[in-house]
Amino acid sequence: MKTPVPDYLLEIRDLCSTGADGRLADYIPELAAVDPDRFAVAACTMDGVVYTAGDADAEFTIQSMSKPFAYALALRDRGIEAVLEKVAVEPSGDAFNQISLERDSGRPRNPMINIGAITTHTLVGPVGASEEERDEALATGLSSFAGRRLEVDTVVMNSELRTAFRNRAMANLVRAGGIIEDDPDEIVRGYTRQCAYRVTVRDLAVMAVTLATGGVNPVTRERVVSAAVARQVLAIMATCGMYDAAGDWMSTVGIPAKSGVSGGIFGALPGQVGLGVFSPRLDEHGHSVEGVRTFERLSRDLELHLM
Ligand code: DON
Repeated sequence: MKTPVPDYLLEIRDLCSTGADGRLADYIPELAAVDPDRFAVAACTMDGVVYTAGDADAEFTIQSMSKPFAYALALRDRGIEAVLEKVAVEPSGDAFNQISLERDSGRPRNPMINIGAITTHTLVGPVGASEEERDEALATGLSSFAGRRLEVDTVVMNSELRTAFRNRAMANLVRAGGIIEDDPDEIVRGYTRQCAYRVTVRDLAVMAVTLATGGVNPVTRERVVSAAVARQVLAIMATCGMYDAAGDWMSTVGIPAKSGVSGGIFGALPGQVGLGVFSPRLDEHGHSVEGVRTFERLSRDLELHLM
């Protein structure tokens, strides 16, 4: 017997996966090798029921969609004040890979752009954590959000590491500015690893809803972060998650969200739902073209716009 939600998601797949212009991310060589025609969408309710349509089992790397979760773990491990000392919370208005630093403090403008996420990565785990301890804190933390043990795609990780010249430059800049005290090469290695966890749209929907509930994963019932941390993360996703398209996104879609150059986008509507989409062709901001189209449609049909 068919049920209304899966039927609706199948309709969404048919309407939104009609082929997009867009281009694969090719600055990470391995990402240019994926099947561009894949499409998947998932929704997770507040009580942990997941609905999917399309290539729901397709795995892709989490990329920048790891940033809100790493930020959540840093806030949990170091506290909001200590994190704010290192990373500001203002939209940069620039692309994700720009050197967006506050003029006076030297802090990266927000934790969603690369330079802010590289800095945030240093704050995951206890003070003085080794590279291995930080990697493990991230593995455990991201897995708690997803409700299953996530694994790193080492081929994608190594592919990005070979070409991570900009990220290395930015890690060196925040090191030179005294914002971080860690070895820049070590941090870029860890950050690149953080971006290479494999997920599906189902994982994204569960991770998203764990923010939407205020920090409890409704599938495993584990409290992953506090309600205050979840609120802070959602606020920064709403203002900075879609980079230099954040205003456009907030006005048309109206859901706190984060994208990644692998072609995923997840959205978390507080108190309501977690959503994930995947389709690899990207627009000029680095957002999935069909993913944006899907979110616009979901927001309109289901009246999900926050305002
Ligand atoms: O650091 C990078 O450039 C990538 N690992 C992640 C960038 C990304 O996903 C941008 N988002 N759309």
